[in-house]
Amino acid sequence: MSHVPVLLKEVTEALAIRAGETYVDATFGRGGYTQAWLALGAKVIGFDRDPQAVAEGQKLAAANSNFRIIHAPFSQMDQHLAAASVAGVAFDLGVSSPQLDEAARGFSFRADGPLDMRMDPTQGHSAADLVNQLPEDELADLIYTYGEERASRRIAKAIVTARTEQPITRTLQLAQIIRAVMPKRPGEIDPATRSFQALRIAVNDELGEIERGLKAAETILCPHGRLVVVTFHSLEDRIVKTYLREGAARQGNPSRHAPMTPLAPARLTLIGKQPVTPSKAECAANPRARSAKLRVAEHTGEAS
Ligand SMILES: C[S@@+](CC[C@H](N)C(=O)[O-])C[C@H]1O[C@@H](n2cnc3c(N)ncnc32)[C@H](O)[C@@H]1O
Repeated sequence: MSHVPVLLKEVTEALAIRAGETYVDATFGRGGYTQAWLALGAKVIGFDRDPQAVAEGQKLAAANSNFRIIHAPFSQMDQHLAAASVAGVAFDLGVSSPQLDEAARGFSFRADGPLDMRMDPTQGHSAADLVNQLPEDELADLIYTYGEERASRRIAKAIVTARTEQPITRTLQLAQIIRAVMPKRPGEIDPATRSFQALRIAVNDELGEIERGLKAAETILCPHGRLVVVTFHSLEDRIVKTYLREGAARQGNPSRHAPMTPLAPARLTLIGKQPVTPSKAECAANPRARSAKLRVAEHTGEAS
């Protein structure tokens, strides 16, 4: 199973790759980005928390001494690499095609599998744990917040009713419970889409990972190193946009009652005013690219 990298050319250009310098592929996946950077003479360190992605990375590392892979969440990259040691870090957020396509991983509402959704199945709680254990109001809040699902209360109620009969352990079992209270309308997405997205985000603490990952990346970037991020939905993009904007602003006094101190210099410089989006041709060839947005910043060398 392969993964077609999104915005590959744009991400690679944004990193301004120089041969011999070291770059971090924070979301190795199947190595689509990494391979392109290695071909330009870069050294690459890949991170992924999915053991299957890491196994693919190990094969590549055995064949190419300019690459190594680390099995860890990207929020921990600063624990593995020295401060100011790399020329660029790129994130390609979300799940990979192999994760979605393999029913046994439990991400898909189209194929039956165990209701798991963990990118790293050796850590944390599965989606089944959340669905069977959370109180109804917490489940509704989770589906509303991470799925932006307006029918969250109705869905949470249906889940809690169903689980009193028998535990919810399969992806299609959950999808049917949702579809039963939210019939599919012609031309609309599958009613289970937003709830599955919400569970996936919660199970993997995806939004917390982004916040911590951006901070960790900033720590390991050398002055003028590039921070490059591809997001796939508004919750991800909002966090990245806010983080980059704050980093690019000069830091002022916390309180107007405090004595005036000079403004601290900005830590980041934004590259490009608007996010880069894929071409029509890329979206036609790879539907996964449709919602992608690329944001880029350069480290000024100022510490936070
Ligand atoms: C969209 S795919 C990346 C695809 C990659 N650019 C390629 O061309 O093959 C995202 C990958 O990031 C990994 N991932 C997501 N969140 C992560 C995190 N917080 N820490 C480490 N890896 C993560 C997933 O396991 C998945 O393999």
